[in-house]
Amino acid sequence: MKKILVVGSNGQLGNCIRKIAPDFEPHYEFIFTDSQSLDITDEDQINDFFYDQKPDFCINASAYTAVDLAEKEKEKEKAFAVNTNGVGNIAKACADYKTVFIHVSTDYVFDGETNLDYSEDDFTNPIGVYGESKLKGEELALENSPKTIILRTSWLYSEFNKNFVKTMLNLFSQKDELGIVADQFGQPTNANDLAEAIMGIIENPNKTFGVFHFSNYPETTWFEFAKKIAEFSKSSVKLNALTTEQYPTPAKRPKRSTMCLDKIEKIYKIEPKHWENSLEDCVNILSN
Ligand SMILES: NC(=O)c1ccc[n+]([C@@H]2O[C@H](COP(=O)([O-])OP(=O)(O)OC[C@H]3O[C@@H](n4cnc5c(N)ncnc54)[C@H](OP(=O)(O)O)[C@@H]3O)[C@@H](O)[C@H]2O)c1
Repeated sequence: MKKILVVGSNGQLGNCIRKIAPDFEPHYEFIFTDSQSLDITDEDQINDFFYDQKPDFCINASAYTAVDLAEKEKEKEKAFAVNTNGVGNIAKACADYKTVFIHVSTDYVFDGETNLDYSEDDFTNPIGVYGESKLKGEELALENSPKTIILRTSWLYSEFNKNFVKTMLNLFSQKDELGIVADQFGQPTNANDLAEAIMGIIENPNKTFGVFHFSNYPETTWFEFAKKIAEFSKSSVKLNALTTEQYPTPAKRPKRSTMCLDKIEKIYKIEPKHWENSLEDCVNILSN
């Protein structure tokens, strides 16, 4: 039986993996840890845990994901502790125990200043602290662990934790009218689809390591995303399109961080789903 360690499993992705884990047992044994039981910033704790458990796979579902808060000087340190040094700690332990390391990163490693879809080899240039800390984490993962698979994803949501879909549903129940940014483009991704993609990679006997992009498709804007959430939840809220300038945030966001999904489809035969179908599934879960 192969052992899969899922660290940071109380987040969106962790909960989605927990949801499908029974489909893969008893062929795989899952070990779910959270920030209390296994703090990835504590190198000794990570080493002791790997020594005891010797997992075959480690999925890093943990991250510091507060994009705006990360811009504050005091928080910056936390973002780098988790998204950079914590990832380095896991990668080193994975190398010691020949564990396959599946790490999750973000489209925010790109600056968003292109009209072409980003491929895995494209030039990275994060424009915020969160993206910078995630990019440095990618580098440490690849440098320290030869069996690393990095999945960059974008605009993640699910029925769990905090995310754009849940925020919108909450606001729709309180407001008659809302302004939503309509000039930033990206690919919403249901974390349940990401969890399935990760298990698809684990199940594939031919592992190709390196960086992959995974999201739902095609691209859209936050405004169109919100409109579909309203439609699927049968909300009568009035949505108004805003420019980025009309909705300033502490962290700058890429204008267009759309990623090309061909590599994961070609190598791992993982077909991305249309974002509207995946969104409808999530809104249905949240509305019932
Ligand atoms: N959310 C998005 O829109 C988005 C977009 C692109 C990429 N991603 C990436 O996708 C991945 C999954 O994101 P998500 O949205 O599922 O994250 P999430 O819901 O914010 O969950 C992150 C989890 O990490 C845990 N964590 C934080 N510090 C930790 C530490 N030192 N040790 C162990 N666990 C720790 C948190 O635990 P506590 O709650 O106890 O702190 C939390 O349960 C991340 O790599 C993220 O960067 C996310």
